[in-house]
Amino acid sequence: MLQNTVWILTLIGMGFITAVYLFVFLQSTQTSDTHVVKAKLYGIRPWWFALLVALIVVALATTLSRMPYADTHGRANSAPDLVVEVTAHQWEWVLSRNEVPVGKDVAFRVNSEDVNHDFALYDEQNRLVLQTQAMPGYTNIIRHTFESPGTYRIRCLEYCGLEHHAMLSNLIVTAHDSQGGIQ
Ligand code: CUA
Repeated sequence: MLQNTVWILTLIGMGFITAVYLFVFLQSTQTSDTHVVKAKLYGIRPWWFALLVALIVVALATTLSRMPYADTHGRANSAPDLVVEVTAHQWEWVLSRNEVPVGKDVAFRVNSEDVNHDFALYDEQNRLVLQTQAMPGYTNIIRHTFESPGTYRIRCLEYCGLEHHAMLSNLIVTAHDSQGGIQ
């Protein structure tokens, strides 16, 4: 019953689309007003092009300087303050340290021991702070300076098997460093 209804609806839809195509095809043989339409559109075209170029230039100028990649800020070759080794495997995150202080340039060196995972860090408002692939045989480095202390949630964003959803951990961002000094 349902099958038949779907069939009939599909045929009606196909018929409608065919009719539209036929109509357009038959109309396209009439060339009488082509030049009018052409002249109109060609008149608009340079302005449309200029507008798009202007929009792209404005968008790039206002956003490029805020690209969230270390090398766009000249940091790629500078040494970080702290390094956190992040190793992923089914189905767990192993971090060389679970605490980092605010205000320090932290480099996360992320890799995997088995399949592809995705290292993603969320702040306490559940906003994505950073993420990068955890790949076997390759180390992805992502740099970040934390501005607010708190318990940041680590999630896996790449489907990696049965317990993918349970691949959770925490990173504590402290207001002070481990020696007790204010950063
Ligand atoms: Cu690891 Cu999904």
